Amino acid sequence: MKEIKNICCIGAGYVGGPTMAIIALKNPGIKVNIVDINEKRIADWNDTDLDKLPIYEPGLKEVVAETRGRNLFFSTDVDQGIQDADMIFISVNTPTKTYGKGKGQAADLKYIELCARQIARVAKRDKIVVEKSTLPVRTAEALKDILSNSESGFNFEILSNPEFLAEGTAIDDLLDPDRVLIGGDDTPTGKEAKNTLSAVYEAWVPKDRVLQTNVWSSELSKLTANAFLAQRISSINAMSALCEETEADVDEIAKAIGMDSRIGPKFLKSSVGFGGSCFQKDVLNLVYIAKSYGLTEVAEYWNQVIELNDYQKRRFADNIIKKSYNTVNDKKIAFLGWAFKKDTNDTRESAAIYVADHLLDENAHIVVYDPKVPAEQVYTDLEYLKNHDPEEIRKRVSIVNDPYEATNEAHGIAVLTEWDEFKSYDWAKIYSSVLKPANVFDGRNILNKKALEEVGFNVYNIGK
Ligand code: UDX
Ligand code: ADP
Repeated sequence: MKEIKNICCIGAGYVGGPTMAIIALKNPGIKVNIVDINEKRIADWNDTDLDKLPIYEPGLKEVVAETRGRNLFFSTDVDQGIQDADMIFISVNTPTKTYGKGKGQAADLKYIELCARQIARVAKRDKIVVEKSTLPVRTAEALKDILSNSESGFNFEILSNPEFLAEGTAIDDLLDPDRVLIGGDDTPTGKEAKNTLSAVYEAWVPKDRVLQTNVWSSELSKLTANAFLAQRISSINAMSALCEETEADVDEIAKAIGMDSRIGPKFLKSSVGFGGSCFQKDVLNLVYIAKSYGLTEVAEYWNQVIELNDYQKRRFADNIIKKSYNTVNDKKIAFLGWAFKKDTNDTRESAAIYVADHLLDENAHIVVYDPKVPAEQVYTDLEYLKNHDPEEIRKRVSIVNDPYEATNEAHGIAVLTEWDEFKSYDWAKIYSSVLKPANVFDGRNILNKKALEEVGFNVYNIGK
């Protein structure tokens, strides 16, 4: 087993940042350099004001406060980071392709490939290269191809080490992971590399939770885990539509089935639809991979998870329109929440974006309040869809810093994110300032329906 003294992580994002912060915290003897080409991001990570870190995660700033400058460093000098490292994590983004073959489904590996070529170009000795981003199966092989065909003559051992942290609970997930998965070759050098990476984790993770597999199993396990989780949400959301047509209550159903120990209680919360950077991307990726092997039925099976999710978001928006006498034209709809889940400022694939887009088709005015998402992000998200002119979006959508201002004189209030603070608002005060009938659309089933109804609101839930 090699002794690791220096780790470099390429990509200072939602995965690289928190993961490396914890590795540095638990391995004070290892110097960890996080490098990124995005200068603003690195400057934010280095800001003395820890409230300006580019990522909001409960507990993150405390870890950064302890480790930054001690054995955790952030820099834009990617070459230097690569040269100094014994082990390199690749943690760059792998978005769904927006062009060419596999458009809308396959993962875009261009950032990974650029990293591999850069490593091949600047490395001056052997390295262990760890793929940390969510990647489609076979990425390790592509990395290996590029690195082994480089003219450097050095040995690059490639490992797959998928990250299972969820945003909003990243620090807890990293400190106490259900398992750590390390995939690599079964050759002597491959085994040595796997043991070397295992030792980094064993600084705080019990040995029996660190699994070693071959590369394919590791890569495909990540896609499978996310596909199963997304499927659970689509399954309960499918039931929510049926509940709304009958007298059944989806939360009661979730509780009843969750008590079956074979099913279990987690990930059964019906919602306006799942978002986030992983679920949709990974399921689409799985669909693409299945299709590319001619497995049409497998591809169609998983694709339904995405279709049901799209249906759920559309259904929510349509219900707002329906309950507003079939028109939201020039009406003000207040959005409570824009992030894809609570306790994060991440908005990637958030259901709020699609619900807003649908309401914009119907000429609604939208006023957004989210405790953590900056205003410009809301505009960027809507403009990215290219369904409405940027000018029109800025005219029709406004972002405010106060929930009472957002809801003032609104024709309807929609809860898109399950932020805890929404539950403790003065709903009687809000009632007095909204237009009547006062409609609340609770896309997360978090508000106290009975209390709000007593105040005078009509409360529309998911699956009730
Ligand atoms: C997910 C996986 O959980 C994690 O293991 C992987 O590494 C990355 O993808 P993340 O996207 O950060 O993590 O958050 P997660 O908590 O899984 O939530 C994803 C979406 O599903 C959110 O929009 C959330 O609101 C929604 N969700 C989750 C539900 O609608 N109902 C649930 O019961 C759980
Ligand atoms: P994730 O959720 O997977 O962490 P993010 O988009 O939050 O994804 O972070 C990925 C980071 O990787 C971004 O900050 C981006 O600037 C960085 N990145 C992408 N390509 C490169 C590269 N070739 N070299 C260095 N950093 C890169």
